[in-house]
Amino acid sequence: MSTDYSSPSSPGPSRLKVTLPQLQEMAHRGDQIVMITAYDAPSARLADAAGVEIILVGDSAGTTALGGTSTVPVTMDEMLVYTRAAARGTARALVVADMPFGSYQVSEESAVVNAIRFVKEAGAEAVKLEGAGRTLTRISAIIDAGIPVMGHIGLTPQSATMLGGYKAQGRTAGAAKRLIDEAIALERSGCFSIVLEAIPEAVSQHITEAVKIPTIGIGAGRACSGQVLVWHDLLGLIPGPTPRFVKKYADIAGDISRALDAYVTDIRTRAFPTDQHTYGMPDAERLRMDEKIRK
Ligand code: KIV
Repeated sequence: MSTDYSSPSSPGPSRLKVTLPQLQEMAHRGDQIVMITAYDAPSARLADAAGVEIILVGDSAGTTALGGTSTVPVTMDEMLVYTRAAARGTARALVVADMPFGSYQVSEESAVVNAIRFVKEAGAEAVKLEGAGRTLTRISAIIDAGIPVMGHIGLTPQSATMLGGYKAQGRTAGAAKRLIDEAIALERSGCFSIVLEAIPEAVSQHITEAVKIPTIGIGAGRACSGQVLVWHDLLGLIPGPTPRFVKKYADIAGDISRALDAYVTDIRTRAFPTDQHTYGMPDAERLRMDEKIRK
């Protein structure tokens, strides 16, 4: 039996880049699209090798990697560094850069200039913008400039204050209808995909049926065309409670703590370094060195 490594759902040795038409075909076939948020080269390399279709360099880096309490302060310069690193580690997956707050709100022109920076300076292949409404004109302008755009509705962390905090959205009939309308508007603007964050499964099902482009869920249930989780959340890199929608696949924070405890103990007890970690020198040179020092 031969394996079709050209299929984006085969995590085989193919290094062919995932394309937008492939994502669309996967959604139509009902094959789940796997997206992960990652911010550096080693993480992207591992995710790519695992066969994910999309690596999102999310502005969640502002909280997970930079230690902030929100994504709002994240800057273009920070996102460019993370995107460049993740793109360097990626061979196959589509690299999507998250446009940080302030990089697309001011004007269409600055939105296009900033989106171009992600592509030209950092190696992104697409960008993601939060919201519909006023964001729609920015999305169209960026697409006109030749850069694919992923939309993001539901809980949009950059506007968490306006949304009344970090809480699920679309839980009333009226709010659900608004989300469905927003998704349709994003598709009409030319988005190639939409992230649905923290909304009821019944709403994401309606949206996924209403649009032809793939929907990627995070806390949006099972009806979406694919799923995304944040690197630090799914690998257990941040101790403590995680949002309801996170499934932890590892306890890397625990592993790191245990390794660091062992490192500290080894040094204090002189169990490290040993001969194995130490450079020697020829005996004759050592004797000559001792003589030179004694003179
Ligand atoms: O910033 C991010 O990681 C995101 C995902 C949660 C979709 O926007």
